[in-house]
Amino acid sequence: MNGIKYKLKVIECDTYENLSNHAAMMIVQQIAEKPDSVLGLSTGGTPVGMYRELIKLYRSNHVNFGGVRTFNLDEYVGLAPDHPQSYHQYMYHNLYKHVNLPENQRFIPSGEKKSINSEVNHYEKKIIESGGIDLQILGIGENGHIGFNEPFTPFKQTVHTVKLEESTRRANAKYFSSIEEVPERAITMGIETIMRSKKIVLLISGFKKKHAFQKLMSSQISEEFPASILRLHHDVTVIVERDALF
Ligand code: F6R
Repeated sequence: MNGIKYKLKVIECDTYENLSNHAAMMIVQQIAEKPDSVLGLSTGGTPVGMYRELIKLYRSNHVNFGGVRTFNLDEYVGLAPDHPQSYHQYMYHNLYKHVNLPENQRFIPSGEKKSINSEVNHYEKKIIESGGIDLQILGIGENGHIGFNEPFTPFKQTVHTVKLEESTRRANAKYFSSIEEVPERAITMGIETIMRSKKIVLLISGFKKKHAFQKLMSSQISEEFPASILRLHHDVTVIVERDALF
């Protein structure tokens, strides 16, 4: 990281549909320019519409995933890949089963407890060996987390396991029957892993993210608000829905 602050490119969208469409088109353009692109993908509520658009664009022959490789940001520790709330299942249902992305070209960190320490090194190594991420899609937590890098995660951190903040578990409890069921730990790309991506697209949707957007746009760069590091990356596009604006 170089210490130079860059201006974040911000695209404001009137609706969630526009945000989703814009993000999907950036991926389509990336793949058109480089058919063997390496994409970094995220889960959660925000990118669901983007995946829906991508599936439509695939069905209308506007994109071919045949040469693409994908790496997901994160996974809960302790959820098997077939657990309905695992990010493995999320990706299968929201993207993989609908498009021609070959199975051996899609990667999500394994959250299996018994092999979690070796997975940390293995996943980082795999990303590096792929040549690095060309385009990384991110969402943001209300506390400024990116991936599952919670506040005060060192900026130099590569793939690692984290204890999820109570607020993060609360925000994600809607996908489980109770907060107690939300795993306490996750494996995630680190800030350093994310910052090595050649391009980054951050999606921000919904009024609950107003404060996070505001903090992102203020110039303080601090581990207290992990997303603030993005100002040190030379190619970040923030696509923000009107509801999340000041
Ligand atoms: C998901 C991820 C998280 C989410 C963030 C926002 O892979 O890494 O950082 O992007 O928690 O989640 P939503 O979109 O559900 O508000």
